[in-house]
Amino acid sequence: MTKFKLLATAAMGLESIVADEVKALGFETQNENGKVFFEGDEAAIAKANLWLRTADRVKIIAGEFTATTFDELFEQTKALEWEKFLPVDANFPVQGKSVKSKLYSVPDCQAIVKKAIVERLKKAYHRNSFLDESGARFKIEVSILKDKVQLSIDTSGAGLHKRGYRTGQGEAPLKETLAAALVKLTRWSPDRPFVDPFCGSGTIAIEAAMIGQNIAPGYNREFDSEFWPWMKRKVWDDARLEAEEAADYDQPLDITGTDIDHRLIETAKANAMEAGFAELITFKQRQVKDFTATGESGVIVGNPPYGERIGEIEKIEEMISDMGRVFSAYPTWSVYMLSAAENFEELYGQKATKKRKLFNGFIKTDFYQFWGERPKNT
Ligand SMILES: C[S@@+](CC[C@H](N)C(=O)[O-])C[C@H]1O[C@@H](n2cnc3c(N)ncnc32)[C@H](O)[C@@H]1O
Repeated sequence: MTKFKLLATAAMGLESIVADEVKALGFETQNENGKVFFEGDEAAIAKANLWLRTADRVKIIAGEFTATTFDELFEQTKALEWEKFLPVDANFPVQGKSVKSKLYSVPDCQAIVKKAIVERLKKAYHRNSFLDESGARFKIEVSILKDKVQLSIDTSGAGLHKRGYRTGQGEAPLKETLAAALVKLTRWSPDRPFVDPFCGSGTIAIEAAMIGQNIAPGYNREFDSEFWPWMKRKVWDDARLEAEEAADYDQPLDITGTDIDHRLIETAKANAMEAGFAELITFKQRQVKDFTATGESGVIVGNPPYGERIGEIEKIEEMISDMGRVFSAYPTWSVYMLSAAENFEELYGQKATKKRKLFNGFIKTDFYQFWGERPKNT
């Protein structure tokens, strides 16, 4: 087994949640510029990909150096032992980004990195002709921040938000990684009721069910690094077996998703079925103003529509007031809403116990938290 410097990438605002998840898997983390680094071997790569719910991707750092000229970028990239990672037939697209750096032309940086790796591999594999790139995929990224170059290889492939259960979606589905982060922020435990009154395609409810039964979010999908020749099949098989054993399918769940749009309820049901929760999550059509629930200390989590047009905003403001009124009948329940409405608390009729800034894609939102009272008999 080899030790790698690994990076779990996170959307803006989710870095500390990703770091907590990496730590919970047993790794020490180092946070730099919103990036979560950790060290691990092949088994760590498999484990992190299978289990991280809130990270975007897991990458191997192939090299780091300073470069202010194209020559420096080329020579230092070529000096890295790419043949340790990439077989002769590797398919290695190169992507890039550059922030506050002398080398600001991203297409040029990508082309130079590509050329340097091609030269390195040709020499290492004694090839004079071109490399046909017909084999496994190794997505390379050249990321430059203040002249510091970081070259990484993506072990995930498709982003980790692709869990493999989404059959359809509404207009503004929440990314699975953000939905999982919202559930984690509520500190919900599976013995408590859970309701998403704006469930849309069911993302939050499905992520809650996976958390509730300790199901690895990546269990039903593939990752690029599974197909790398030096990555032993057994490493992934063992990680999947371990995930299967850790799943608690007997954990009862009381999770409900409701939405005003009955077509989305059908989509949510299809997604839940795909995720293996057809019988475990209740989805039904209902307007938030008709909210009812049973049980104590439940958790209500959702992202109500934000609204962009004037008529829509009025309707949404009325809906937030309705919410405040109907939820006040459940004093032991906690309410968590992700909203872009800056006057949310005013409309809701209560000051939030806590707020947390989060980005939903590029939309700046707050996660408004209204904590419930302790039930009288505890
Ligand atoms: C931003 S989307 C939620 C997306 C969802 N989290 C997902 O991942 O698919 C907002 C949802 O609120 C629903 N909605 C709008 N007005 C509503 C109301 N008055 N009561 C209940 N649901 C409503 C919409 O149909 C839409 O599905």
